[in-house]
Amino acid sequence: MATVALSSIAKSFGSTRVLGGVDLDIADGEFLTLVGPSGCGKSTLIRIIAGLEHQDAGGVAIGGAPVDHLRPHERRVAMVFQSYALYPHMTVRANIGLPLTMSRLRLWQRLPLLRLLSAQRRRVMRYIDADVAAVAGQLQLDHLLDRKPAQLSGGQRQRVALGRAMVRSPEVFLMDEPLSNLDAKLRVHMRTELAELHKRLGATFIYVTHDQVEAMTMSDRVAMMDAGSILQLGAPSELYERPASLKVAQFIGSPAINLLPATVGSSGRIELFGRPLALSAPLAQGQAVTLGVRCEALSLLHGDSAGPGRAWFSARLRRKENLGSEYILHFDLAGRDAAGVTMRASPAVAAGVNEAAEVTLGFDEAACHVFDADGARVEPRSPGGATGSVVPLRAWP
Ligand SMILES: Nc1ncnc2c1ncn2[C@@H]1O[C@H](COP(=O)(O)OP(=O)(O)OP(=O)(O)O)[C@@H](O)[C@H]1O
Ligand SMILES: [Mg+2]
Repeated sequence: MATVALSSIAKSFGSTRVLGGVDLDIADGEFLTLVGPSGCGKSTLIRIIAGLEHQDAGGVAIGGAPVDHLRPHERRVAMVFQSYALYPHMTVRANIGLPLTMSRLRLWQRLPLLRLLSAQRRRVMRYIDADVAAVAGQLQLDHLLDRKPAQLSGGQRQRVALGRAMVRSPEVFLMDEPLSNLDAKLRVHMRTELAELHKRLGATFIYVTHDQVEAMTMSDRVAMMDAGSILQLGAPSELYERPASLKVAQFIGSPAINLLPATVGSSGRIELFGRPLALSAPLAQGQAVTLGVRCEALSLLHGDSAGPGRAWFSARLRRKENLGSEYILHFDLAGRDAAGVTMRASPAVAAGVNEAAEVTLGFDEAACHVFDADGARVEPRSPGGATGSVVPLRAWP
């Protein structure tokens, strides 16, 4: 069993509080991703789990047993870093086998001349080589075992670093932005490889990234961190479809969610650009709220297609971004200081609108997210009594 349980983990560096009492239970075999902006404490938290850093308060348990008194190599965890940390003078074989030579050979057996005389060393090395070969086979590194890191591509180096973690058969893999040094195409490829590796090994993966696409595509659950605490923990779709706060809504989703300034009018009705919507919020009249609308929830309205339960506003097309299979359309909000909005559109829809054209954009009110002035999620009420969040996002045309 390799559950990981964090209870009230707190950490400060000098007078700077970096982790403010983090609680997190990770299931055996789960792929959990920590995401969040730079400096929010992701690496610090994962280093505390690894034993590379010590918390000021709180405890870490692995497989149900506290590990706070254990050194890193005693914790049944392996860590993969962003920088790979391979030894340049060693072959791939030696790099992958390093954790085993360190743990299975005595110091004198690792010394240059003495080691040649030891029959026992030769026996242990045969076992180590077999273990290294098995891992190299799984990662398709067999043909590269005699090369040095400098003779490898970025993706191959990354796999060597993974191999070095795998060779100890850890129950928990801790990975700190392992793909961030790779180019975009290789990153997409390695995402799939890592997800498959996770399935094959059945180990617990705790993965740190600030790339929300990595988080969304690989994880069973995502923990979104900010300023040393977890803002929301849930399945990727939960964070996307039901963000608990404005910060989560802004971080998860690419392109980023559209934010529209609105106010609470009489009897709680939300007003967007002065027009009352069907939605109402349990907030005092005059309060500012923010509506979050995903870019696939927006559509171009023609003629009388605005109707009950659909909000609309005027916009001017600033730029079309061609992604091949689809377009991202960037609009300015006509005559308003508010930031622009982005809309996902099929090539056919994009072809029907010219740059600088004035258009009407609309969205199903049930598909928008409402946040109060403090950025907390508010459950709006629509006239039928249904809350907005339970209605799935409408597909774009
Ligand atoms: N050894 C240290 N001494 C002092 N401050 C530190 C130390 N390590 C981290 N910090 C500070 O703690 C905060 C959290 O750092 P951490 O590395 O955990 O962030 P992160 O979420 O991993 O960020 P990134 O996405 O940029 O890697 C930062 O403000 C950082 O400057
Ligand atoms: Mg980090």
